[in-house]
Amino acid sequence: MDFEKKYLNEVINATSALNSISGRVAWRSPSNIALIKYWGKHGEKYPMNPSVSLTLNESATTMRVNYQFHKRADSLRLRYNFSGTSKKSFATRIESYLLTLNRFLPFINYMEFEIFSENTFPHSAGIASSASAFSALALCLAEIEAIIKDQRKYNDEFFTKASFLARLGSGSACRSVFGGVVLWGNTNGISGSSDEVALSIDSLVHPVIRSLRNVILIIDNSEKSLSSSEGHALMKNNPFAKIRFKQARVNLNRLLTIISEGSMIEFFDLIEYEALTLHAMMMTTYPGYVLMKPLTLEIIEKIREQRKKGVEMGFTIDAGANVHLLYTQKFEKEVTRFIQDEIESGIELYRISDHVGNGPVKLSE
Ligand code: DP6
Repeated sequence: MDFEKKYLNEVINATSALNSISGRVAWRSPSNIALIKYWGKHGEKYPMNPSVSLTLNESATTMRVNYQFHKRADSLRLRYNFSGTSKKSFATRIESYLLTLNRFLPFINYMEFEIFSENTFPHSAGIASSASAFSALALCLAEIEAIIKDQRKYNDEFFTKASFLARLGSGSACRSVFGGVVLWGNTNGISGSSDEVALSIDSLVHPVIRSLRNVILIIDNSEKSLSSSEGHALMKNNPFAKIRFKQARVNLNRLLTIISEGSMIEFFDLIEYEALTLHAMMMTTYPGYVLMKPLTLEIIEKIREQRKKGVEMGFTIDAGANVHLLYTQKFEKEVTRFIQDEIESGIELYRISDHVGNGPVKLSE
């Protein structure tokens, strides 16, 4: 399916239905953690390889959007508020996002927007919030469009459109629109998979995977030295890029088998391999850079030791130093003890306890 073409075709109806309108919509959308990593993109945030993620539950953004029709379609009118402040850098990114979307949602130019955004986790936690923020905003915009068209239905079609819109804000955000285990990117053998939108693959997944827990160990809470967007761009000149994109597909196919069987040793081995490969890509661009810290390495060693002892746990890492410790529900006690005794003894570490969740929630305005 060519989603871009489909959505551009639908535009005409939307603008003709536009009349004096105002209201408020609100969504809470979670962050997600990739198991197979999206690293490298082309065109309008199309991935160089497919990725798979777990949608989280506790780490989320709440977005409330007030919209008011104004007659003159001259320019975008936006007031943006993040946790009680007008965070300039975020506001600029949101503004250029809305301008990008104008092509698909021309009503944007006829509206005055007031956006209130809040994260459930502290901004200084060092967790990327673009996935939760852009998915929450995309859902709000998809809902405003549905209201204008008088087609308010929260069905697959609605979420797929929101996923498409979210991708244009931040690639990984298109996955947060769905709960559970999510695939984004054209994949042989998976019908409906697309580079344009994400897809829930929960029905292909063993329950042990769907109930995975995730503790995010915050090792570095400072702003990243290199944004994800800059990192993606550096893949263009990475001598190993081609091999990596191929390998990601091989890993993805392996992961699909593993998660359908629920074989946990293979699962942790593979997701760790993916995380380390992501960081290897960072180290092998020119100029190379390292986002992991000594404590990141110390912790991943300890996690691997525990796994050798039979505890079902493993790690993944995004483009930063923080460690996502994943573990099966039945090892809750062992993992809690491990964190207390081996990770937190002697150091103060901020952590967030999370688990695989059901996806975004529409809030009463
Ligand atoms: C390492 O989605 O943040 O987390 O599309 O430029 O906004 P943009 O990048 P972004 O990249 C995420 C990279 C990653 C891996 C992943 O989530 O798949």
